[in-house]
Amino acid sequence: MNNGKFFTSAVASMQASAIREIFKLVGQKDIISFAAGIPAPELFPSKEWARIAEEMLTQKPASALIYGVTEGYWPLRELTKQRMVHAGVCSPDDDLVITTGAQQAIDLAAKVLLEAGDGVIVEKPSFIGSLNSFRSYGAQLFDVALEPDGMDLAQAEEILKTQKIKLIYTIPTFQNPAGLTMSLQKRKDLLALAQKYDALILEDNPYGELRFKGEVVPAIKSMDTEGRVIYAGTYSKTLAPGIRVGWCVADKEIIDRIVVVKQVNDVHTPVLNQMMVYEYITRHDFEGHIAECAQVYGERCALMLSCMAEHFPDECTYTKPEGGIFILCTMPEGVDTKNMLLKAVEKKVAYVPGNTFMVDIDAPSNIFRLNFSVTTPEQITTGVAILGEVLKANV
Ligand SMILES: Cc1ncc(COP(=O)(O)O)c(C=O)c1O
Repeated sequence: MNNGKFFTSAVASMQASAIREIFKLVGQKDIISFAAGIPAPELFPSKEWARIAEEMLTQKPASALIYGVTEGYWPLRELTKQRMVHAGVCSPDDDLVITTGAQQAIDLAAKVLLEAGDGVIVEKPSFIGSLNSFRSYGAQLFDVALEPDGMDLAQAEEILKTQKIKLIYTIPTFQNPAGLTMSLQKRKDLLALAQKYDALILEDNPYGELRFKGEVVPAIKSMDTEGRVIYAGTYSKTLAPGIRVGWCVADKEIIDRIVVVKQVNDVHTPVLNQMMVYEYITRHDFEGHIAECAQVYGERCALMLSCMAEHFPDECTYTKPEGGIFILCTMPEGVDTKNMLLKAVEKKVAYVPGNTFMVDIDAPSNIFRLNFSVTTPEQITTGVAILGEVLKANV
């Protein structure tokens, strides 16, 4: 039977994650994989959580295991809001809902806002999880080049002038996949553009707390005085991704809608997981933990960059992030990094090819993403040297 004929056209337009395909390829134990998008598992607070989970399940089993409220476990919701207000991201008047990761925050915002044909501006390259979410509601995606200081705003304005754009999606800090950070001026100008053309901004910030260099740049949300910016945050990268706890901060009217949609989506984020995050943050030095993660990633990033300087051909250029977990590399025009991946995997190294991050996933791409958070210093040294050989053979 051809079940495909029953699928909606929006779902048919969603792209299978090439990252998942790569995970199959790199599942072999002897591959040094720079393809991951996760924090270092040795930094997960698993021992602390083992104690907390046991305590919650023995002392508060009813609260932990019964249905919870859709808005989120109240203490965690309050604490997360306080952290956001304290960091200057939002005002006490904004509202916050706990979500099942930032992915759900993005998807719920998209579900509330987008219908077939609505225009969304995205960075080129961008995060496939968000592109697929927008696609699933039939949105039309317009990609805008990413410059070293953020999205090309002149190009964005050309699109805003001629298309009906409802939403501008950006990952302004330690972007995935580029590792780049949007300048303060561009953040202000982007908000002004959104005001001029009456569009909303979805600011996705999963990596912002993992800064190991340079100065903090204020969130776009922090400059928003009219409820135009929806902000997605997560504990995935600072604690652990499998715990699936994130949040969405926005104007109360938008959060009210998101809550209604979340209710039909998953009723609420698992309460035990929310309790574990809350208890960890209140009993332990969370800010110290984040600083430790950032330090480890800073060291791994510096090592990777110095190995790249030694082994990569001059024709391959790359970003130098001040935080997060990714470096984006650019090969000369005409090199297809998806084809080159097969050669890299033969030599036992892996990365994510650039087409994965594109609106047009089938077009060949000369960029590729490297992750530095999950590999050991030894793997970085060995893997980058091998990758350098592959690159030299392909320039
Ligand atoms: C840019 C970006 N947004 C959102 C997410 C989703 O994160 P979460 O695990 O909180 O759903 C990721 C995860 O890789 C990401 O890179």
